[in-house]
Amino acid sequence: MEEPILKCENLCKNFGKKEILKNVSFEIYGGDILGFIGPNGAGKTTTIKLILGLQNLNKGKVTINGFDIKANFEKAIEKVGAIVENPDLYMYLTGYENLKIISNLYKNVDEKRIKEVIKLVKLENRIHDKISKYSLGMRQRLRNSTSNTTQTIIINIR
Ligand SMILES: Nc1ncnc2c1ncn2[C@@H]1O[C@H](COP(=O)(O)OP(=O)(O)O)[C@@H](O)[C@H]1O
Ligand SMILES: [Mg+2]
Repeated sequence: MEEPILKCENLCKNFGKKEILKNVSFEIYGGDILGFIGPNGAGKTTTIKLILGLQNLNKGKVTINGFDIKANFEKAIEKVGAIVENPDLYMYLTGYENLKIISNLYKNVDEKRIKEVIKLVKLENRIHDKISKYSLGMRQRLRNSTSNTTQTIIINIR
């Protein structure tokens, strides 16, 4: 049987005495697209932060590509690209200038690769505009182009 790419089992999260998540469980398989819809404060962003290891679970288990995020974090997160809420970008620089700066953080990212990812996220026509002129979705797409992988993409709009 096919293994889920992401498996959440009984996720529980409290902030102080406030119970935010209570036994949240779901699975995602290759090719699936899952969207969380819910009112402000429902716990959507918290769930995503728990999956990414940006918040600690009170109880439950997250497995990505067969790896438990607690026991094997580096392996689990290896093929995950994620943007949580607003991506951090230099607003007064263009999309292209941002990519050039971010590329310095990676080995083996040359001009050819930068051109490839711009095409991949379909920002060819806007890449020399300032980030301040982009929509939120365009900023998220630009930031996502810098993720090292395309296997599991998590984008958290709000
Ligand atoms: N770091 C934090 N400390 C305390 N409470 C938090 C923290 N992050 C989120 N919360 C609370 O958890 C609840 C869920 O928030 P969140 O996951 O951001 O909701 P959503 O993304 O669905 O709007 C809210 O009541 C929020 O105030
Ligand atoms: Mg949110």
